[in-house]
Amino acid sequence: MSVKFRRSLLFASGALLAVAAFAVPVVAGTAAADPGAAGSGNQARIVGGEKASLADHPYAVYLTDAGGNQFCGAVIVSSTSVATAAHCAKAVAKQDIRVVAGREDKRTGDGQVLGVSKVWVSQGYTDPTKGGDVAVLTVRGQFGYRPAKLPDSGDAGLYAKGTQATVLGWGRIADGGARSDYLRSAQVPVVSDSECRTDYDVYDQRTMVCAGYAEGGVDACQGDSGGPLVVGDTLIGIVSFGDGCAKANRPGVYTRVSTYADDIEAQAKPRLLG
Ligand code: ARG
Repeated sequence: MSVKFRRSLLFASGALLAVAAFAVPVVAGTAAADPGAAGSGNQARIVGGEKASLADHPYAVYLTDAGGNQFCGAVIVSSTSVATAAHCAKAVAKQDIRVVAGREDKRTGDGQVLGVSKVWVSQGYTDPTKGGDVAVLTVRGQFGYRPAKLPDSGDAGLYAKGTQATVLGWGRIADGGARSDYLRSAQVPVVSDSECRTDYDVYDQRTMVCAGYAEGGVDACQGDSGGPLVVGDTLIGIVSFGDGCAKANRPGVYTRVSTYADDIEAQAKPRLLG
């Protein structure tokens, strides 16, 4: 395995670990102008994005541990469930995971905080670079916010190279280890399978999709994992991994939701029995 991958594998070993160990060079704010300008007190959250509103994306939620520390993103897919990354679902014990909905600003008490009654992880998942980085959490209670739509067979075109998609999250700020308090979003184009295969030797077009610019500058980053990549309100990806953040020729790698839509749907159904 190539050196460029060891680092990603490190991140893959769990969101909390990634968060704790994130002495990683990150590119940020000014990166669009100068993708090489890492380190000088810049911020990397959703890199190269802007403050976003839950009014536009009410399905964007985040996960905290029992101490209230945000460690990943997630996305409402039914009144009783969220989809997230498998590596997020496995990072914290089920009884300690909280889903925070309706809270743009982490410093407020807005919205809902729901516990988790059930965790489903994609069968055969081992780590993000091997695919299957998707999980569904069933919450205790009901969301008062509308879900994102799952892609169906008519949505294959959304995965075409160049489709402009929106990634959302409360991911980390590089500078001094503080976090982004606000929900942020960025626009990133879908990258072709052949191009992403060149960028990452572990890329698998069945289970993953890449988005970003060849020159870098705009991307998801640590802490955004599990969060949504949407086109309109249709969920096409889940933040999974990347080599650093916003680097040239290292687009963000997302779980290809269309491949898992039936599984997610089955898990997302509110169950009357059982
Ligand atoms: N694995 C990271 C996390 O746990 C997400 C990394 C996404 N990186 C990227 N360059 N798009 O938050």
